[in-house]
Amino acid sequence: MKQINRVHFDEFHTPNYTPQDKVIVSGMGSYVIDQDGEEYVDFAAGIAVNCLGHCHPELIKTLNKQSAKLWHTSNIFINEPVLELARQLTESTFAEKVFFANSGAEANEAALKIARRYACNQDSQKNEIIAFHKGFHGRTFFTVSVGGKPEYSDGFGPKPAGIKHLPFNDIAAFESSITDQTCAVILEPIQGEGGVVCATKEFLASIRSLCDKHNALLIFDEVQTGVGRTGSLYAYMQLGVVPDILTTAKGLGGGFPIGAMLTTDAIASTLTVGTHASTFGGNPLAASVANTVLSIVDNTIFLNAVKEQSKKFFSGLNQINNRLEIFSEIRGMGLLIGAELAEDVTETAQDLIRSCFSNQILITAAGPRTLRFCPPLNIEDKAIEEGLKRLEHALSNVEREGNLDAI
Ligand SMILES: Cc1ncc(COP(=O)(O)O)c(C=O)c1O
Repeated sequence: MKQINRVHFDEFHTPNYTPQDKVIVSGMGSYVIDQDGEEYVDFAAGIAVNCLGHCHPELIKTLNKQSAKLWHTSNIFINEPVLELARQLTESTFAEKVFFANSGAEANEAALKIARRYACNQDSQKNEIIAFHKGFHGRTFFTVSVGGKPEYSDGFGPKPAGIKHLPFNDIAAFESSITDQTCAVILEPIQGEGGVVCATKEFLASIRSLCDKHNALLIFDEVQTGVGRTGSLYAYMQLGVVPDILTTAKGLGGGFPIGAMLTTDAIASTLTVGTHASTFGGNPLAASVANTVLSIVDNTIFLNAVKEQSKKFFSGLNQINNRLEIFSEIRGMGLLIGAELAEDVTETAQDLIRSCFSNQILITAAGPRTLRFCPPLNIEDKAIEEGLKRLEHALSNVEREGNLDAI
């Protein structure tokens, strides 16, 4: 049989992605290998998903064991791994109840639906959702309409109503917009897709107190920031604010698809039988892998190591910037780091992802002008050093306004 390759993407796949030219065939730890046997350092981790790197031996062991036991039951018949996962998640967080889904968007869909239902049960007019410019919550039509990039939800017909978008980190705008009609406020503690922008503690504290005043639910979308990414199990644990609802996905399955919505008993009671459901949510394969992920990540030694690797990453990026002056800001928390391109850089983040790929390093973008680094949380020093070396090489010939004048 002829080898399938990148050309077949254009032939057979819907054209809504522009993948790199080479096809990845395997991975180990913080490295992946393409069809030609070339090795890449992975600073992308499948967009903050492979939190324990590729093919972690404990995850392989768990998956193999569960795959020989039970693959799927649906929620008509409960299974052991999902009960264990619900127990682990509630014991480790503020939450008392968990709803399982298969992705971040589905976890957020559940969060937004439960918040609307909770409020509508008290007052049918209390249905307004406040969200933020550049926020990202997934691609279902509800979540993408709540997200703060209209270009992602335009052109699909009438959008869900009752959603207000405000500038991020703007306390005054928030204070003047929240009312008793607000049922929920949703935000990412660090906007990921929006450019790796951290919410200030003051902004979060103000949101929490005004949500309480107006009886609105506070939803933290921790799909990207969760499961150790920022150096604590969930980012809220370092930010001095506890949400009413939290969503988690990405790292939770370490590469196996799973999402979850976490909340309190009082809010969860809104989801009475038949109000919401998922065929695959709580699948035993996904849940068993997530149990192993949590048992490794939710550990002080592991989380402190994330903070240590974060320091090395920031320091390495700052050193590159001292030499190349290519970034106007390097920001983030833990191993979710954004480097914004200096104004005179004429290439986009997407262009630079391609140069990095040619230099055998995987990175992602967070918006048009920010490079995002979200490597495996257990990335070793050698991979950080090697990846940063390749990164510097990839960035050393970037086009800038001055260069263009000279041509
Ligand atoms: C903060 C946040 N929420 C939700 C999502 C959507 O998750 P998924 O792609 O798993 O549906 C993402 C994905 O990037 C995200 O970063």
